[in-house]
Amino acid sequence: MKKFTIAIDGPSGVGKSSLGKALARRFGYQYIDSGAVYRAVGRKALDLGVSLDEGGAVARLARAAAVRLEGDPDHLKVFLDGRDVTTEIRLPDASRAASVIATIAEVREAVVEKLREMSREGGVVMDGRDIGTRVFPEAEVKLFLEASPEERARRRWAEDRERGREVSVEQVRAELEERDRRDRERTATPLVRAEDAVLIDTSNTPLDRVLDSVLEIVNSRS
Ligand code: CDP
Repeated sequence: MKKFTIAIDGPSGVGKSSLGKALARRFGYQYIDSGAVYRAVGRKALDLGVSLDEGGAVARLARAAAVRLEGDPDHLKVFLDGRDVTTEIRLPDASRAASVIATIAEVREAVVEKLREMSREGGVVMDGRDIGTRVFPEAEVKLFLEASPEERARRRWAEDRERGREVSVEQVRAELEERDRRDRERTATPLVRAEDAVLIDTSNTPLDRVLDSVLEIVNSRS
């Protein structure tokens, strides 16, 4: 069977990574979390004390950053310049930094290049904000996930709590809304649904049912 590229886009907390990992397991594909690359670049800017709005400087460090995603979908590790940053890139400062540096066109170009390089061998499930529109406009399957703001905040809050972050749902919702706004309003490949992406609302649908409907879509195109 021909190896597909499956592009999953949408805002935070809609279940992109859970679906992406499940699909990758099912097909024996590589799962690539593009947000982790933006997070690693944001982390590097913070570590080096580079101001997040200095586009040229952030783009230079993005080009120079060696970002590696390693392991199977359930045990994915993220390495930045040889250092394991899997945990720290999920902390609130790295989330915000990723969102800010992701508005810089030159940074996005550098990240897109890295993502394509990581996908060279084909058979890839990638999630993010611009996968179906920019990274892989030719992807055989494109999905755009949505969910209500309440449900998205609740899911992200539960994940944060699992990671030991004591935070209110309201705070999480405010952070998500701020990042969403930046993603949707930036001029460099903003978050939009590709015309040929299938829209899936995951607000009231458990992952296994979302997965079933996506498997139908994939099989119908094989
Ligand atoms: O985990 P969450 O969905 O909240 O975010 P993420 O996928 O880890 O991405 C972190 C940030 O990187 C997002 O807030 C986006 O601003 C940015 N991003 C992007 O601009 N384009 C992508 N393809 C992936 C992430």
